[in-house]
Amino acid sequence: MSFTPSRILVTGGAGFIGSNYLLHCVPSYPAAQFVNLDLLTYAGNLANLRQIESLENYHFERGDVADPVFIRSLFERWQFDTVVHFAAESHVDRSILDPGEFVRTNVTGTLTLLQAAKEAWKDRFDECRFHHISTDEVFGSLGLEGEFREDTAYAPRSPYAASKAAADHLVRSFGTTYGFPYVMTNTSNNYGPFQFPEKLIPLVIRNASERKEIPVYGKGENIRDWLYVTDHCEALDLVLRQAATEDTFLIGGSQEVTNLDLVHLLLDVYDRQTSNEPGRSRELIRFVGDRPGHDFRYALDSSPIQNRLGWTPKHDLTSGLEATVAWYLDNQEWMDAIFGKDYLAYYEVQYGNR
Ligand code: NAD
Ligand code: TYD
Repeated sequence: MSFTPSRILVTGGAGFIGSNYLLHCVPSYPAAQFVNLDLLTYAGNLANLRQIESLENYHFERGDVADPVFIRSLFERWQFDTVVHFAAESHVDRSILDPGEFVRTNVTGTLTLLQAAKEAWKDRFDECRFHHISTDEVFGSLGLEGEFREDTAYAPRSPYAASKAAADHLVRSFGTTYGFPYVMTNTSNNYGPFQFPEKLIPLVIRNASERKEIPVYGKGENIRDWLYVTDHCEALDLVLRQAATEDTFLIGGSQEVTNLDLVHLLLDVYDRQTSNEPGRSRELIRFVGDRPGHDFRYALDSSPIQNRLGWTPKHDLTSGLEATVAWYLDNQEWMDAIFGKDYLAYYEVQYGNR
């Protein structure tokens, strides 16, 4: 079974993963039209898309996924057959401070898109597809053993994860109730070019470059699985085209590491690439108060997407961190432009010192 998207609405395409996805897909599929719908919140940045902004099959619309009148008019104007839905509030720490915005964008926004797509596609569900992008955080927190699978029960523990879980449930409910054509993917921690520097990896690089303290929550023992963003985008492209309707795939990097080990690895790469003396940046690490309800570990069983769709990530953590540090060092201007004042000392305000 394969699907050929032709008029594609990409929501949140000015954010981290969405922009990498567009940079990958727009030049690869010149016969398809891509419309990037983004509200340009603090996390959205059109400068991410310079390489494709003048291509004829790329278009930008500024607007809110939770605005039903605007979304309906967009479907009428563009006659989409495909939605790839990235737009979300995506930072756990922010969700602890302000959960309301997460419910509005992630839950109401997803429902608004689902309703508009269902109405627009009512006579042709078999020609259309809604790809919902989600996270491993919906499954909750693991101990030292085990991995999440597609059929693991949901147990979200942060307001961010709860809002993404609600959105996932709505998407599946449209499938079972109306026969709505969706596919879903849940991914682990992505990293790479164009990530907003309040997430761990770009934050560490940025602070190292400014010789600022590097905040590690708690004792740095929490474990994450890391996936290089372009590997994720290749997997998303495969799923959209090859998966069966109502399929869910988990997409992980199989690269688990504690936060402290990750920060050490990253700073060592940083020191090598900047010709610092070895260990110089590790001096910047500062243990700060822990994130409330901090999930201990995430890990995904990605064997179904590897076995059924033939996907394998091209980067392991070592090559991915090398590529990431090199990219941020080459794009200092991008970092300077995007590093908003609202971020500064964010973790200090929130969690204090240990
Ligand atoms: P991001 O925060 O970098 O980007 C989100 C984008 O959505 C921004 O461009 C923002 O302007 C836009 N947006 C926010 N609210 C909007 C609204 N109401 N209407 C229209 N646009 C709006 O996020 P990301 O890291 O690129 O994540 C993309 C998706 O992938 C999200 O759904 C997230 O939950 C999921 N995800 C991310 C990761 C990760 O490691 N980054 C991991 C798992 C899943
Ligand atoms: P983050 O990048 O926010 O992703 P997520 O919470 O979705 O996993 O954080 C990754 C891990 O790093 C998480 O365990 C929290 C931790 N962390 C720090 O220790 N210090 C920081 O400054 C940040 C932002 C995160």
